[in-house]
Amino acid sequence: MRIRPVATVAGALVGLAASMLPAAGAQAAERHHKVVTIAHRGASAYAPENTLAAVDAAADLGITWVENDVQRTKDGELVILHDTSLARTTNVEQVFPGRAPWNVGDFTLKEIEQLDAGSWFSPKFAGERVPTLEDYMDAVEDNDQKLLMELKAPELYPGIERQTLKELREDGWLDRDHVKNRLIVQSFNADSVKKVHSLRRDVKTGFLGTPGVAELPKYAAFADQINPQYKSIDAAYVSAVHKVKGPHGRPLEVFTWTVDDAPNAVKAAGQGVDGIISNKPDVIRDAVKKTGR
Ligand code: G3P
Ligand code: CA
Repeated sequence: MRIRPVATVAGALVGLAASMLPAAGAQAAERHHKVVTIAHRGASAYAPENTLAAVDAAADLGITWVENDVQRTKDGELVILHDTSLARTTNVEQVFPGRAPWNVGDFTLKEIEQLDAGSWFSPKFAGERVPTLEDYMDAVEDNDQKLLMELKAPELYPGIERQTLKELREDGWLDRDHVKNRLIVQSFNADSVKKVHSLRRDVKTGFLGTPGVAELPKYAAFADQINPQYKSIDAAYVSAVHKVKGPHGRPLEVFTWTVDDAPNAVKAAGQGVDGIISNKPDVIRDAVKKTGR
């Protein structure tokens, strides 16, 4: 069991309450709402994106689903980071000057473990690390959360689909319960989603993008979800997606991104989406709840 860092007394009380009743609280809240709220890169408006602090911030808000981005280091380890460069969200430029453009794939895990992935966001998060996939999965498990995992730029990392699935299996995330209820793998790269589906047909998958309606049957051969940018859709598009059945015989779902304000959340819910991915998941959950969706 991981010992969670606690920043304040108020945070400690919230954290204690959440750790006592994480599953019951968060999952009961979800049952009443058809629209799922997903914490984008964790609750990344409140803690540095893609860190364990962002996963915990989501849990403290009662948010069950978190989204992340998986990439690979020079020595073949899987880590969680959004940009293909470490520059924006760590102090890599200070620690390793002269190694521009500081790409994830040019650094070993040992080097990445030396980086501060929290100070850029706030001094309060100084010392936060770039998590390994293994540490990340342990945190999500400890919090009784669910994961929308993105394979980020998989074209840079040949074989990352098989490697990720292997690690998920070793971490206990490919058993019946996790596969059925707690895991979705998505990517902007259709070939990568197709590969995941071919390697593990039981795993739920998502394609990130807004394919034309005529193209949907092609995607439905390997993706259970079509996950578009929120400005790119309307009710007719969502309805068209729902009319197509995915590889598991169920209507394709739509998780849209990245919605951070109540009016757009209400609009997306009204369009019929199944999920809303947000940096401010509490704002979105509360706004959608009021609509009864
Ligand atoms: O999950 C949707 C969203 O994460 C896709 O965009 O750039 O934030 O990875 P991005
Ligand atoms: Ca992402």
